[in-house]
Amino acid sequence: MRHLMSPLDLSVSELKRLMDLAQDIEEHPEDYNTKCNGKKLATCFYEPSTRTRLSFEAAMLNLGGSVLGFSSADSSSAAKGESVSDTIRVISSYADICAMRHPKEGAPLVASIHSGIPVINAGDGGHQHPTQTLTDLFTIRSLRGEIKDLTIGLCGDLKFGRTVHSLIEALVRYPNIRFKLISPEELRVPDYIREEVLVRNNIPFEELERLENAMPDLDILYMTRVQRERFFNEEDYVRMKDFYILDKDKMALAKEDMMVLHPLPRVNEISVDVDDDPRAFYFKQAKKGVYVRMALILTLLGLVEGIFDEDKEDYHA
Ligand code: NCD
Repeated sequence: MRHLMSPLDLSVSELKRLMDLAQDIEEHPEDYNTKCNGKKLATCFYEPSTRTRLSFEAAMLNLGGSVLGFSSADSSSAAKGESVSDTIRVISSYADICAMRHPKEGAPLVASIHSGIPVINAGDGGHQHPTQTLTDLFTIRSLRGEIKDLTIGLCGDLKFGRTVHSLIEALVRYPNIRFKLISPEELRVPDYIREEVLVRNNIPFEELERLENAMPDLDILYMTRVQRERFFNEEDYVRMKDFYILDKDKMALAKEDMMVLHPLPRVNEISVDVDDDPRAFYFKQAKKGVYVRMALILTLLGLVEGIFDEDKEDYHA
């Protein structure tokens, strides 16, 4: 049985086959609409979510399965003090697979250790968000054909933004990827990302504060929201929240084929005027998330063959 805690749990070749499957699902959805008949997905969300939870649920429903779960800690027994390990033990007898989001880093990992069913990390604190990364990679591949030779700008809250951490870890495994890390001084990427992921893998990157300075070089701009819920005080959040606003003037500095991505939800960091720009892909990106989650559910439930490497040593390729 395999779980998904981090994008590194899948090798590059496994990711490729998973994205091939997602693409086939996107092109021929009718071929998949009974594959999960009789199967149940539990969504255990201890933190707010719109896209991740609903796209997991839509994915399971599209596959002919059913869903059950809770969407806040208050409405689960966590409010009574139950541990995630006890919760997952019980859910293992109610469902076949579980997607879990939790404000504590590592909580889905703890759950996976005590689980009788595959657990998918749907976001753990400021740490990782692997299924958003699958969505991002699949979007990039769909639009560019391949994931290589790209200058990628990551802009906003690079400290607390878990989508950024997972995406960097995943992208450094592809050829000729360079990063422009655009953030205020206080919201730079954590040291472990800088040292253990970027420096260790000899990835070219630059940390800078002004989005305008990076714009002309970028092939992809990945905007992120300032993660209010992870700040220790409201004052710092207020100071930082409108640090970046991508608007038409800034878009005018970019290449004609640059892609703007955003995991969403957007607050103020992308002006709504940009939504009509043909380079704005964030809503299409959210739609892609359903297909990769369908592919992931099928894979972890063992309902499709040939996605996982035979040689398990290759996981962290
Ligand atoms: C992201 C998250 O939850 O980390 N949202 C999502 O799942 N698409 C990004 C965010 O909340 O800013």
